[in-house]
Amino acid sequence: MVPQNIILVTIFMIFINHCSSTFFDASGIEQMETVAEEAEDHLAYPSPNDWVEEVNGGMEDDEWHLVQKKGNQFVVNDQPFYVNGFNTYWLMVFAADQSTRGKVTDVFKQASSVGLTVCRTWAFNDGQWQALQKSPSVYDEEALDFVISEARKYKIRLILSLTNNWDAYGGKAQYVKWGKAAGVNLTSDDDFFSNPTLKSYYKAHTVLNRVNTLTNITYKDDPTIFSWELMNEPRCTSDPSGNKLQDWIQEMAVYVKSVDPKHLVEIGLEGFYGPSAPDRVQFNPNPYAQEVGTDFIRNHQVFGVDFASVHIYADSWISSSISDVHLQFTKSWMEAHIEDAEKYLGMPVLFSEFGVSSKDPNYNSSFRDTLLSTVYNTILNSSKKGGSGGGSLLWQLFPEGTDSMDDGYAVVLSKSPSTSSIIALHSTRLALFNSQCSWKCRWGCKKKNPLDAFLLHHDDL
Ligand SMILES: *[C@@H]1O[C@H](CO)[C@@H](O)[C@H](O)[C@H]1NC(C)=O
Ligand SMILES: *[C@@H]1O[C@H](CO)[C@@H](O)[C@H](O)[C@H]1NC(C)=O
Ligand SMILES: *[C@@H]1O[C@H](CO)[C@@H](O)[C@H](O)[C@H]1NC(C)=O
Ligand SMILES: *[C@@H]1O[C@H](CO)[C@@H](O)[C@H](O)[C@H]1NC(C)=O
Repeated sequence: MVPQNIILVTIFMIFINHCSSTFFDASGIEQMETVAEEAEDHLAYPSPNDWVEEVNGGMEDDEWHLVQKKGNQFVVNDQPFYVNGFNTYWLMVFAADQSTRGKVTDVFKQASSVGLTVCRTWAFNDGQWQALQKSPSVYDEEALDFVISEARKYKIRLILSLTNNWDAYGGKAQYVKWGKAAGVNLTSDDDFFSNPTLKSYYKAHTVLNRVNTLTNITYKDDPTIFSWELMNEPRCTSDPSGNKLQDWIQEMAVYVKSVDPKHLVEIGLEGFYGPSAPDRVQFNPNPYAQEVGTDFIRNHQVFGVDFASVHIYADSWISSSISDVHLQFTKSWMEAHIEDAEKYLGMPVLFSEFGVSSKDPNYNSSFRDTLLSTVYNTILNSSKKGGSGGGSLLWQLFPEGTDSMDDGYAVVLSKSPSTSSIIALHSTRLALFNSQCSWKCRWGCKKKNPLDAFLLHHDDL
């Protein structure tokens, strides 16, 4: 089934290359059949490398433009930029040590071989081992320089998160420790969001002004950076009204934009509905979700925030035991947020973390493949309509030999051929969208052509 799809994709791409990106008609379909026959005659199974290169082919360095937002879509140089991406959070720690640096290169190389174009990773490590921020205002950015320059080599853009809600790699708890050590009276980790001293530490997170020593490009001018993320999964349980977190988002989104007006900014939220949207809380995975001080729609209406982020973890939010309920939740959670982004926000939404843990009861790899297909097809359904579904980022992609960092969610491409094929096919589909349509055209103009027929009738993975 999978190889057949790859052949279809390849045939279709050859067809696309033979035709201009204008409307297709009946003679176009005939032409496609001829091209397909010709292609089948001399078609070997292409390696993912070959055909992804064909899609991205010939991109010169001077075509490496910043990602921007137009209405509810991402664009690069006025062409749409739908995202098939991944997370690998630990890149900076591995880059800090010569003996593990190669793993950073490995993951970018493998990701690009299946057409992934965006990686989300930590641009924070507050006061921990191999720290980026050793103490407030004391930095060592060399490892991050390497991550960024390496990503560019493989034409992968980065979403860089600036700190953590959780304790891993420091986060808000470390900021509170630093504040206490400086004699500030702090009683809760949530003081991170309101205390003036801690807010000044956050604002001093100087990576935005850093000049990369390997490329000589200032971070805030570098097209390799897709966007800044204010924080990984902010929650402020001490104020369920959401006001405390809202104020912090307002202040920091404007602050980051004032330092770096060029790049997109997103918050890093998981996407829970809060008090401002009582009619939407039914979509939350559980009743607790509305009490963590976040409020998807209200938070994203803040000035300076360019696109919405949503995470998808049925296995951690609903029940760890795998079942079809997880797939139903995934689809309705995504569709609800896509609708919000269209109706209330007028921005794209990126499903910036989704995955499933192999440690879950009843887990098997075919479930994981089905989950990926569900996410990808929901994105495609939105993008075909010119909707707000801007893309998704798998949690998480690992190269071989990094098992010690695996939390159960790691996908190693070389060990998961079926998963690799699903990822690669989705990349190809998005690459076709991205290369064949201009922003103005939207997908409506493609309704009656074989591209659409192809996308509709070959969703059989
Ligand atoms: C620290 O702040 C708490 C809560 O704001 C307050 O109750 C307490 O008296 C303060 N302690 C000192 C030593 O100022
Ligand atoms: C960066 O600038 C330095 C100093 O001007 C120069 O020696 C070096 O070759 C430059 N590196 C790159 C990659 O352009
Ligand atoms: C994999 O897991 C799913 C969900 O638990 C189940 O429905 C399916 O039958 C399993 N498939 C295999 C091949 O074990
Ligand atoms: C995508 O849309 C098609 C046609 O409307 C529908 O049959 C399919 O179930 C949708 N897939 C997902 C994953 O939403």
